[in-house]
Amino acid sequence: MDMEKLLKTAKERIHDRLDGVGRLSGKVVIVTGAAQGFGRGIAEELHREGATVIIADMQFAAAKEVAEGLGERAAAIRVDVTDEDSVREMYAETVERFGGVDLLVANAGVLRAGALASYEKKDMEFVTNVNYIGTFLCCKYAAAVMQAQHEADPSATFDIVIMSSKSGLEGSNRNFAYAGSKFGVIGLAQSFALELCSSGIKVNAVCPGNYLDGPLWSDPETGLFVQYLRSGKVPGAKTVDDVRRHYEAKVPMNRGCLPIDVARAILYCVEQKYETGQAIPVTGGQVMLN
Ligand SMILES: NC(=O)c1ccc[n+]([C@@H]2O[C@H](COP(=O)([O-])OP(=O)(O)OC[C@H]3O[C@@H](n4cnc5c(N)ncnc54)[C@H](O)[C@@H]3O)[C@@H](O)[C@H]2O)c1
Repeated sequence: MDMEKLLKTAKERIHDRLDGVGRLSGKVVIVTGAAQGFGRGIAEELHREGATVIIADMQFAAAKEVAEGLGERAAAIRVDVTDEDSVREMYAETVERFGGVDLLVANAGVLRAGALASYEKKDMEFVTNVNYIGTFLCCKYAAAVMQAQHEADPSATFDIVIMSSKSGLEGSNRNFAYAGSKFGVIGLAQSFALELCSSGIKVNAVCPGNYLDGPLWSDPETGLFVQYLRSGKVPGAKTVDDVRRHYEAKVPMNRGCLPIDVARAILYCVEQKYETGQAIPVTGGQVMLN
């Protein structure tokens, strides 16, 4: 579908949404990187609140499994957020199938840690491409669709929520490519918020703490717990549980962040009608704003 047709369809079908029961009933939501981890959990929570959810991911088989598990009001779409054509196609398919887009959760993200002296340019480019450029591309086309919808119904409002991190609020030792990209997307959120405010589009970022139960940390072979145990990063830790407790102890609320915690912050972004351009910590008190 070309852009002109895509925007015309979005305008015509602004009220053409599937019914659900819940706080997001009738809303079409795209969650990128939703085949696993935070994205998957967030998509499941938002679906429970009545949204129609698009499980958008480059791991298509896994995305399909998640969508099939949800049943009605869910679909998987293959996307590579670093590829502009692929991103445009994601919106075209969403608009064609579900009539538009009400909320984008720009969640797809990657992490490659390493010390400055040995860190390679290709790793910097990889992280920046997915986390920063990919977020820009997803927001660019979300905004185009939402602006067309707003023209068709000026009373309607829409949301973009960008997944930053607590590493978007304070530096992260030997993890600068990631932290830099997560600081960067807060700059995008603030700037897009200014530009899109008059089109009824709020743009906010959420900044979760560590999802200790997610695959990034808990995968028994590749997770950060086993990696940190093997590398001796946590002094005195003899088991994976010791490493876990070390990270839990950094959080005043004494546990890792869960998808439901992030989903609640996203629901706040959508439901409130008088705030935009904010970066909301979801860290159990680990990072506090001034
Ligand atoms: N896990 C944490 O502790 C934590 C903490 C704060 C913020 N975050 C952020 O939350 C988001 C999700 O993290 P996660 O830990 O669930 O990661 P994850 O690795 O478990 O999942 C990321 C998903 O993104 C997809 N993805 C990666 N590159 C993509 C691309 N180019 N196009 C489309 N999809 C792509 C992957 O296939 C995967 O399904 C990221 O933005 C991450 O930075 C994570």
